[in-house]
Amino acid sequence: MNYTASESRYSHMPYRRCGKSGLQLPSVSLGLWQNFSDFDLFDNCRNLLRVAFDHGITHFDLANNYGPPPGSAEETFGRVMQKDFRPYRDEMIIATKAGYDMWPGPYGDRGSKKYLVASLDQSLKRMGLDYVDIFYHHRPDPETPLEETMMALDLLVRQGKALYAGISNYSADQTREAIKVLKELKTPFVIHQAKYSMFERWVENGLLDVLGDTGAGCIAFSPLAQGMLTDKYLNGIPEGSRASRNHTSLNPDQVSAAIVDKARKLNEIASGRGQSLAQMAIAWLLKDTRVTSVLIGASKVSQLQNSLESLKNLSFSSEELQRIQEILE
Ligand SMILES: NC(=O)c1ccc[n+]([C@@H]2O[C@H](COP(=O)([O-])OP(=O)(O)OC[C@H]3O[C@@H](n4cnc5c(N)ncnc54)[C@H](OP(=O)(O)O)[C@@H]3O)[C@@H](O)[C@H]2O)c1
Repeated sequence: MNYTASESRYSHMPYRRCGKSGLQLPSVSLGLWQNFSDFDLFDNCRNLLRVAFDHGITHFDLANNYGPPPGSAEETFGRVMQKDFRPYRDEMIIATKAGYDMWPGPYGDRGSKKYLVASLDQSLKRMGLDYVDIFYHHRPDPETPLEETMMALDLLVRQGKALYAGISNYSADQTREAIKVLKELKTPFVIHQAKYSMFERWVENGLLDVLGDTGAGCIAFSPLAQGMLTDKYLNGIPEGSRASRNHTSLNPDQVSAAIVDKARKLNEIASGRGQSLAQMAIAWLLKDTRVTSVLIGASKVSQLQNSLESLKNLSFSSEELQRIQEILE
């Protein structure tokens, strides 16, 4: 069926400025790390992307290695781009990354200029795009000089293959150093992509301060702790869930009794707010204005719709925050 985007797509989504840049991102963005591979049903992938865009999710996050096999999420996105999204390209912020193992030999991994330049060319081909909006270095590479990696990002922006540069998984100190280099180069560095959720709060120990001080944005990945901050695992590991499937990033052991106990208590607070746990987990991240966007995943349209409802209640009483803090400690 032909796709025409919903006319009300900009009615409900709040957009936030990415640091001090000119770029605005939706408060909730969609990532294609999982659920968009060659092993997933194309119609479900297509539907997820359509529903997301119809609700104001203008930002889609990919990486060269998302799949499996690596590259297949970009190919899936490319197919939907071709079939549905082509007329809307200028309404979208599409990101990809390089930094993890992608092809054999010494040039398909880490942070060399050789790898980053070749990888972005491959990503553009897979997605059928002339440029991406954000290109990230996916993780720090201790063996490549930081200047080389940052100069590769700068080059790709100057070539017009990416509009903005980003980094991911860099520590607070590494981020400060990277930003120093990028500022000297006058590269439009706009964003850090960091793992951040109620269960994973390392960014609060320095990184958010660095980003706030330097005028960069932050996009929080795995905000639902891969599903552990939803009601999914409160009564065991259901069939078909990420923790139940083989070869996924969520090991059943990670869904420990201690985690489930915290999730149950948090779920009670969420119920009191008239929210699902997923909705409260997203709202909790957005209470910090330094968080530009919350980068969710979803395997079903119903999950995406549920998560988007978080935007209806983003405020917390000090008592709620205190109770949440006590559970998380
Ligand atoms: N930069 C990096 O190094 C890095 C690393 C990881 C991820 N990321 C980015 O972050 C994105 C999101 O990561 P993530 O998938 O781990 O995010 P997440 O939002 O924490 O987890 C998503 C998973 O939680 C479950 N879920 C989502 N909404 C739900 C709801 N409302 N109710 C019940 N269950 C729900 C689904 O799992 P089921 O499959 O069990 O249904 C879904 O696949 C990725 O796609 C990627 O773009 C970046």
